[in-house]
Amino acid sequence: MIPFIDLNAQQELIRDKIDKRIKQVLDHGQYILGPEVRELEDKLSLFTGSKYVLCCSSGTDALLLSLLGLKIKPGEGVIVPAFTFASSAEVMPLLGAIPIFIDVNPDTFNIDPNKLSDSLETANEIGINVKGIMSVGLFGQPAEMDSINDFAKKNNLWVLDDAAQSFGGTYKEKTVGNLSEVAATSFFPAKPLGCYGDGGAVFTNDIEIYEIANSSHIHGMGKKRYEYERIGMNARMSTIQAAILLEKLEIFTEELKKRQVVASNYNKNLNSLNLNIGLPKIKKNVTSSWAQYTVLLPENINRNKLQEYLKSKKIPTTVYYPIPLNKHKPYNKYPVSKSGLDVTYYLSKNVLSLPMHPYLKEDDIFYITENINNFIKNC
Ligand SMILES: Cc1ncc(COP(=O)(O)O)c(C=O)c1O
Repeated sequence: MIPFIDLNAQQELIRDKIDKRIKQVLDHGQYILGPEVRELEDKLSLFTGSKYVLCCSSGTDALLLSLLGLKIKPGEGVIVPAFTFASSAEVMPLLGAIPIFIDVNPDTFNIDPNKLSDSLETANEIGINVKGIMSVGLFGQPAEMDSINDFAKKNNLWVLDDAAQSFGGTYKEKTVGNLSEVAATSFFPAKPLGCYGDGGAVFTNDIEIYEIANSSHIHGMGKKRYEYERIGMNARMSTIQAAILLEKLEIFTEELKKRQVVASNYNKNLNSLNLNIGLPKIKKNVTSSWAQYTVLLPENINRNKLQEYLKSKKIPTTVYYPIPLNKHKPYNKYPVSKSGLDVTYYLSKNVLSLPMHPYLKEDDIFYITENINNFIKNC
C-alpha cells in the first residue's frame, strides 16, 4: 500500500536526533513543563512572528484555550464554517457558546467572506450576540484573512484562526499563526508539523489572551502554585513531545518545500490528463502547507467506486469531510446562515483527498494519477 501519510520516511531521516532529544528529557527528568517546552515556544514565536506562543496538549485544547483567552461567554455566538473538522465547532458548545454555520468558497474551501454579513444577520435575527469568527485554513490554505479581518473589525468581532491544517502556510508574506488576534494549531502526528502523540499551540500578540490561556492550561493557576484565579483545565504539552517537535521544526521548512513539489506534480499530471477534475486552487500571495491534496471529482464519477478501485491498486484515499458539521446530531440544533450551505453540501459529496506527504515519490504520484485516469476513462 502506498502510505496516505508516511511518517516512517521522515523518522528514518531524523531518528538519531530524536533519540538524543528524548534521552536528554529522560536524563533531566522534567517530564512536565521541562525546558524543551519553553525552547519550542520561543522557536515557534520566531517561526511565526507571533509574540506569545503557548504549547499545549492538543489542537482542540488550543482552540478551547483561545476561546477562554477571548473571554467567550455562554450564549454568545461564533461564526464557523460547516465544512471543517469537528474540533473547530465543538469547543464552542463546550463553553456554552453557539456556533453559527457559514458556507465556504468553492475554490478555497474556506469561509466565503461574502457570506459573513448574512451569517451575522441570521444570528442577530434570532437574538444571538456574535463575538467572533473562526477562520479555518482547510487542507493547508489559509483563509482570506484580509476580508475576514476587515469584516470583523467593522463589526467589532475577533478572529480566531484554526490553523490546525494550515500551519506552515503563508498569507501575503505573513506566516500562519500571526494572521489574526489569536490562532491555534495542532501537532497531531499526521499534521504538517506533528509530534508523536497529541500536542497543539496557541499564538497571539495580545498579552491578556496569552495570560488567560496560560493560566487556564494549568488549572487556572494564579501567580503562585496552588493559588487559582479561574476555572481551568490540564492542557500542558508533555516535555517529550516538545523535544520531538524541536527536531521536526528543524526540517519543517524543507518539508514544506517538498510538499509543494508533490502538489505541483499532482497538478501537472492531472492537468495533462484532462479529466475534468477540480484541482486545488491556491490564491495569489498565499502558500499552502498542503496538509492534504484534495480534488473535486466531476459529479458523474461514483466516489465510492473510485475509492474502491484505487484501494484495489493499493492507493488509499480519504473523504474530508463526508458530512457537513451541521448535519451531525450534536450540531443540528445550531443556526445556519440564511445564505445556506450549498457549496458545503456539494463539496462533501464530491471531494477526495489523495496521499500527501513530503516524501511521496514522483513515480508514486504518476501511479496514483494514472490509476485515477484508468478508472475515469472507463466510466
Ligand atoms: C481543522 C482542525 N481543527 C482542529 C483540529 C484538532 O486538532 P487535535 O486533533 O490536535 O485536537 C484538527 C485535527 O484534525 C483539525 O483538522
